Amino acid sequence: MTAYTVHELTVPATMDDDPVAVQAFRDWLRVSDAAEVAVHGLTELSWRPEEYLPLCHEPGAPSRLFVVRDDAGTVVASGSYDTKQDPSTPNCWLAVGVAPEHQRRGVGTLLADHLEALARAEGRTQWKTYAVSRQVGPGVGPGYLPAPTGAGAVPEDEAGVRFLTGRGWRFGQVNRISRLALPADPSVVRELHDRAMAAAGPDHRVHTWTGRTPERWLDDLAVLQTRMSTDAPDGDMEEPEDVWTADRLRAHEDELARAPRTMLTVAVEHVPTAALVGFTQLAVPHDDGRAVMQWDTLVLREHRGHRLGWLLKVVGIETVERDFPGRPSIVTFNAEENRPMLDVNEAVGFVGVGSEGIWERRVSLGAAPAAGS
Ligand SMILES: CC(C)(COP(=O)(O)OP(=O)(O)OC[C@H]1O[C@@H](n2cnc3c(N)ncnc32)[C@H](O)[C@@H]1OP(=O)(O)O)[C@@H](O)C(=O)NCCC(=O)NCCS
Repeated sequence: MTAYTVHELTVPATMDDDPVAVQAFRDWLRVSDAAEVAVHGLTELSWRPEEYLPLCHEPGAPSRLFVVRDDAGTVVASGSYDTKQDPSTPNCWLAVGVAPEHQRRGVGTLLADHLEALARAEGRTQWKTYAVSRQVGPGVGPGYLPAPTGAGAVPEDEAGVRFLTGRGWRFGQVNRISRLALPADPSVVRELHDRAMAAAGPDHRVHTWTGRTPERWLDDLAVLQTRMSTDAPDGDMEEPEDVWTADRLRAHEDELARAPRTMLTVAVEHVPTAALVGFTQLAVPHDDGRAVMQWDTLVLREHRGHRLGWLLKVVGIETVERDFPGRPSIVTFNAEENRPMLDVNEAVGFVGVGSEGIWERRVSLGAAPAAGS
């Protein structure tokens, strides 16, 4: 019988670091991607190691990465353990992916047990994981587990769903993975742009930049980043406030600048107060054969209702097409209950291509873990 063992990686600082550490990181990413692609089939979402590595070096909260090796030393599963900068938060984020050809042999259980034990040992009581699912259309019925938000569901027959349910995790929310094939229909984008501009009126002004945030907007962007943790829909799985300062933002930007992607930011200023009140960020690959990833999009709660989300979205598309032509698509993740954002996505031509279930487990540290958990 094969013996499987869990190993924590020494995450390389750069891709030119110690070759053994770099190879282990490459193996980690390959297996992690393979486990997800086997579920949703979206090869466009696979990462290049150079792109992903900077994401593991969040200043003050670096990712811890783990692999399971078989007795020949082959990596058969990948896992991660993340926390936030504030050490007092009870939250942590876990992930487990098993190479498709090694599933159903107890490897996922071995790795999940290891990560959960680590979370307990660190005193974390609120655990979260993101598990991809195949695309789920609207109006699903039997055979699907509905989200408690009332929007979206995940297929009950998926390995990840069975695995997490069996381990006592609670399904909380669905993200829709949407894809816009580029170029988008220019007349549709233009019309949406005009409508959004009319609704936003003279009190709002759009700014775009690439790379480092201009000094003038640094504090404002830190506020917007902080509010991502409190103003974005999170079902009933409360996220702690994750405070961003100008210094943290700069350190983060410098880390991301090492990836072969250009960060395009579109922000909207509320002219009467000269403050930014919304933003979206798109990670544009240097390789023009790869998809653009649209990351955070947020309009502050108190500034909603002026179609600023629409404005950010369409200006982002127009800027990508004008300044970075040739990319095949933009891919984005949105909460299935976030109707305003899904409305603009659908209007502009994004189509659903996959889903992501968000799961939570709350534990009490006093109690001994139940069998199998
Ligand atoms: C979910 C996943 C990690 C399970 O890995 P694994 O090594 O196959 O898991 P195990 O062999 O330890 O299975 C443990 C239990 O999960 C359940 N399970 C796992 N895969 C299943 C499947 N395909 N069908 C039904 N039940 C399944 C079973 O109850 C299983 O116990 P059993 O084999 O004794 O019946 C793996 O399928 C995967 O990587 N999926 C894609 C990524 C993902 O969804 N990750 C989970 C969220 S972090």
